[in-house]
Amino acid sequence: MLSRRDTILTSLKAMTGVAVTASSPLGTLLASPVRAQGRGQADGVPYGAAVRDGPLASEPDYRAALVRHCRQLVGEGGLKWYDLRPSRERFVYDLPDKQIDFASRNGMTLRGHTVVWYGAMPDWTKSIASASEAEREMVGHIETVMGRYRGRIKSWDVINEPIPDDPASRSDIRPSIWQQRMGESHIALALRTAARADPDAQLVMNEYDIEFVGPRFRRKREAFLRLIRDLKLRNVPLHAIGLQGHLRGELPIDREGLSAFIAECRSMGLKVLVTELDVVDDKLPGPPEVRDILAASRVYDFLDAIRVSSPLDALLTWGISDRYTWVPLYFKRTDGHLNRPLPLDSDYRPKPMMRVIEHFLR
Ligand code: G3I
Repeated sequence: MLSRRDTILTSLKAMTGVAVTASSPLGTLLASPVRAQGRGQADGVPYGAAVRDGPLASEPDYRAALVRHCRQLVGEGGLKWYDLRPSRERFVYDLPDKQIDFASRNGMTLRGHTVVWYGAMPDWTKSIASASEAEREMVGHIETVMGRYRGRIKSWDVINEPIPDDPASRSDIRPSIWQQRMGESHIALALRTAARADPDAQLVMNEYDIEFVGPRFRRKREAFLRLIRDLKLRNVPLHAIGLQGHLRGELPIDREGLSAFIAECRSMGLKVLVTELDVVDDKLPGPPEVRDILAASRVYDFLDAIRVSSPLDALLTWGISDRYTWVPLYFKRTDGHLNRPLPLDSDYRPKPMMRVIEHFLR
């Protein structure tokens, strides 16, 4: 008589070809007794999650879930330009100050996300008309914001998503107001300014779609590596690479490609962070039990491929509960089922994904 779990695992293999069998590493992990869940050992990889300001202010269960599981946080918003900079003259710190206050009161650190990005820019930045004006605004922003949180925010996504989704060449850089006004030199300038603003901060360059099988993703890895190599060759301060890890449920992880990418980063002295892990599950089968195991399987493959070449310096998911996730903004399911991209369900109960994450924190 097959147990319920064996039935699910067996049907998964039939349904999707994903070998999540009872004897596979994941199957074995999921069949093992649940260990006490919590923030992990002090010497383990620090797990964290992106925090959303609304529920942080209004939901005790949400706060309790963060305290129970996390050793660090990152603002889903708050430190983006459109939150911080309603006008050219104003800096508004209410949200990040509340995030830092909650984090420090609960023994957590806060990551800074993000300084230089094409996204979440307030309309007034469209009027930045020249290279010198762009330099003044970008340098001023970094000096002011990172200076304010010096010693309190110890790791920053200084450069976010610098590579286009389908780079035309290895030297391709994604358009942004900074790239359009200053060219690629804005990246080294931002990192050098950040290093001056907070010499002890971990400076990170953060990117997505680095992990999948396929020519477009291989081109993205190659373009990202070219940029990283160029910065390191010029002794530009850069300490770590952030793999966002917005996994797609239907896309297999390129184990060789990802491990080789990470090995090359490590050879340049860079640390590796997983910064925004979740599973976009719009193309996975509807039944939650099946979907949760498939999503956990992708997370297992992703983290296992990273660990072949590098320890994890940090592991954060982009949210902690399915109740608050960006995924349906762009990947809403058409079958009426809600997306289930995160390690806790919408009632803050751990899913198989949390078991997998805790396995890799040890
Ligand atoms: O708060 C306003 C609300 O007052 C308004 O009524 C509503 C309607 O426009 O918008 C709300 O703001 C939204 C904000 O999220 C807060 O939920 C913005 O429109 C929306 O664009 C914003 O989306 C965020 C997106 O980044 C852009 O900043 C997502 O929550 C956030 O999860 C997403 O995170 C990004 C990372 O920064 C970079 N990596 C990819 C990741 C996912 O896209």
